[in-house]
Formats: sequence, structure tokens, C-alpha cells
Amino acid sequence: MGARKESFTITDNRTGKSWELPVLKGTMGPDVVDVRKFYADTGCFTYDPSFTSTAACESSITFIDGDAGLLLYRGYPIEQLAEQSDFMDVCYLLLYGELPTPVQKLKFEDDIMHHTMMHEKLRRFYDGFQMNAHPMAIMCGIVGALGAFYHDRIDITDPTYRMIASYRVLSKMPTIAAAAYKYSVGQPFIYPRNDLSYSANFLHMLFATPCEDYEVNPVLERAMDLILILHADHEQNASTSTVRMAGSTGTNPFAAVAAGIAALWGPAHGGANEAVLRMLDEIGTKDRIPEFIKRAKDPDDPFRLMGFGHRVYKNYDPRARIMQRTCNEVLDALNAKDEPLLELAMELEKIALEDEYFVKRKLYPNVDFYSGIIFRAMKIPVSMFTVMFAVARSIGWVAQWNEMITDPGMRIARPRQLFTGPLKRDFVPLDRRR
Ligand code: SDX
Repeated sequence: MGARKESFTITDNRTGKSWELPVLKGTMGPDVVDVRKFYADTGCFTYDPSFTSTAACESSITFIDGDAGLLLYRGYPIEQLAEQSDFMDVCYLLLYGELPTPVQKLKFEDDIMHHTMMHEKLRRFYDGFQMNAHPMAIMCGIVGALGAFYHDRIDITDPTYRMIASYRVLSKMPTIAAAAYKYSVGQPFIYPRNDLSYSANFLHMLFATPCEDYEVNPVLERAMDLILILHADHEQNASTSTVRMAGSTGTNPFAAVAAGIAALWGPAHGGANEAVLRMLDEIGTKDRIPEFIKRAKDPDDPFRLMGFGHRVYKNYDPRARIMQRTCNEVLDALNAKDEPLLELAMELEKIALEDEYFVKRKLYPNVDFYSGIIFRAMKIPVSMFTVMFAVARSIGWVAQWNEMITDPGMRIARPRQLFTGPLKRDFVPLDRRR
């Protein structure tokens, strides 16, 4: 008797018919039931509108265990990468699957830094925006427009072109993001500097002016690098799934990433870091915390505690722990450790984590809860917070896009539906409508 086939048996009680559905096993995490033939065999669709129980792809990039509060990039724990690695190391790891050797890392950094300039004509696109345009709207537009500058040379079936396009996204995101900020404050755009690290160059483009030398504070450089590492990738989250969905049509990677930026913007996703700061500003003082906790628990009040809860983490988001520690370090280094917002956030977290409503629903602080306080301390405006997230996540998006394109089983993503609309009916001419 061979090994028992791992499968689910499903029976349609209306007909008594049964089917065997194979179980597929990964290296870690839940097994999956393969329903690819389910509709062809049974004539029924499976139904999972928010994908709470659906694995949409096979991936070897990032693993999350929500109950254990575990996050691994290509097998390496986020805590070790945060402590011992840097963002370029992590970008290479996510893209190629292994940590770079010293020679590989030097070449990778040099390649990335030599793609950081944007086309001079692209700089003029900014003038089409109102000065007070939300920087995420600008990011959607400018990154999408990259497709107009490289579209004719993108052959996504050619791995060389895919890598060049991936490098261009990773390289140009900070330049495009910093320009969005400079445009909003009416200052000249600062050209990238190849002699600086990726993170130092990003800070330099954000805060330098042509009027005087600008020295990047090494504490802020390290904090930026750490924040980029923590936000780099996160399995099949909404924006990454958007990039995969768009990429599955064969569109160019710039258009797919622009779609991911649009999805990240939402306050339920990457937009939460901006929403956390606005929420803390609205709460203002510790004595008003109970009022907002009450609102967050009220099913009739759409208000939610921003920066709290997660679809996957039913334990503390490991990134939030590191972010809280970084918050203290940055505020210490900037002699701003008595930042009232941090005290307010920590008091809010303490009260929420002792409240039955949050405990029962396993709602913990997520990556967005503390990041905004660090960005505020770094003098980054609130409207730029989600842009920071988008810059960091660009490596995750292109790594997942490459994995999807090279998946031999890749086909256009085309979900179906449960239709509850009107039955077939005949058209009623205008003169007979009452
Ligand atoms: C990110 O997917 C990823 O990996 C995302 C991300 C990444 O790196 O890509 O980790 C980044 O997006 C982090 C999440 C940032 N968003 C926020 O902080 C916004 C506030 N959080 C919520 O909107 C919510 O928790 C979500 C969107 C994050 C998760 O939503 P789910 O999984 O659909 O949870 P749910 O809405 O089903 O909530 C379950 C219950 C509900 O109450 P009941 O219906 O059981 O009574 O928990 C409640 C919710 O009302 N709830 C909250 C809450 N989050 C969930 N109640 C108050 N405040 C909250 N923040």
C-alpha cells in the first residue's frame, strides 16, 4: 500500500457525488487544498471575496506566521536582518533569493545608484500637479509614466530586461518620492548623489537645498535604512496582490507598480501610517484616549484605531516591536525623547492591550503604529508617510512580480463571482417605461 494520498474529499449532498481534492504542502505554513479543477469538476465556484482563506500563488520570498508573530525574508528572521543587515543587502536577498557576497553587493549597489536619475522630461510632469496634490497621487502618476519612457524596450519574457526594469523601479522611487516632496514645498529638486548610500541619498534629496551643504545625520540614515528593511516585503498583502494581478496581464512592470502604489494608499493598508498620526493629533492628550477607545469599539462608528489590527498577525507585528525600539533611539538621538506623541501612542497601546475588545479580537499594534512618530521626528511631513512605505515596498513588489512572471503556471488572474443580480429580461423602449 503506497503512502496515503494527501487529499480532501468533498461531497455534494444534493447529488451524492464526491471529488478528491489534492493537498499541496509547502516548506512552512498551512497546507493548501488544490481547487484549480473545482469548477471544471463540480460546476461550482469556491467563494472567498476578501481572500481570508485563499492562497493566490506559490511563493518562496516572504513567510509570515501570524500566530507566532514571525516574519522571514527568504528564511531570514526580520529581527536579524534589522539588526545586522542593510537595505541594499535585503533588496538583493529579496530579488535573488540569497544574501550577496561582498563582490555581488558592491556591484548591486553600484548598479542601483547609477540608475537613480530620472529622465529630465519626467521632471516636467510634476508641473501638471497642484502644489497641494497628495504626494501619493503624484507617485501613482510619475511611476506609471515611467512606462512611457521605457515601454518600447520592455520585453518581460527576457530576464535581462526584467532585471533592468526592476533596478529602475528600485533606483528611481526615492528620486521620484523626494521630488514629490520638493514640489510640494516649492523647492528645487535635488539630484541623486552616487557617493551616498541608498538611504543617505534619499534623505539628501529630501532635505538638501542648493544654498548650502547638507550633511546626512548618520542616526537618521540608519533609521531610514531600518524602516526601509521593515517595510520591504510582506507576502501577498493587498498592494503586492495588486501588482501580481496587474502583472499577470503582461503589462509593463512600471504600470503594475503604479497599481500597487494606488492600492497601498488606502488607510486600511499603507495609508494607515498617515492616519495614525492624524488620529494621535486628534486625540491630543491622554485623558481623551478612553473616548477614542470607546469609538473604536462601537460597531456603529466607522472609526477604527489606526495602526492596530492585522489580517494575518494575531500576535504583535514583529516589525512594530522593532519600530518602537527605533522610535526611542531616534528620539533619543534627536534629543526629542519626551516627544508627547510617543508617550500618547504608548499609553494608547497600553490601554488597548488591556481592553477585552482588543484582546478577544487579537488586535495588536502593526507596522504603521510607530513609524509615523519616527517620520515626524525626521521632519518628514505626514502626507509623505505612505510615500516612504511605497519606496520601501518597491523592492517587494518587483521581487514578487519577477517570481510571478517566471512561474511556469502563470496565467492571467481572472476571478469569477456569485451573481445575485436580475434574471435575463427584455429591453424596455423609452416610450414604454413608466
Ligand atoms: C498594513 O496585509 C498586510 O500584510 C499589510 C501590511 C503590509 O506590510 O503590507 O502589514 C501593512 O496594511 C498594516 C495594516 C494597517 N491598517 C491599519 O492599521 C488600519 C486599522 N486596522 C483595521 O482596519 C484592520 O485591522 C485591518 C484592515 C488591518 C485588518 O482588517 P481585517 O483582517 O479585515 O479585520 P476585520 O476588519 O475583520 O476585524 C476583525 C474585528 C472586527 O470586529 P467584529 O466584526 O469582530 O466585531 O476586529 C475589529 C473589526 O471591527 N477591528 C478593529 C480594528 N481592526 C479590526 N476594531 C477597532 N480598531 C481596529 N484597528
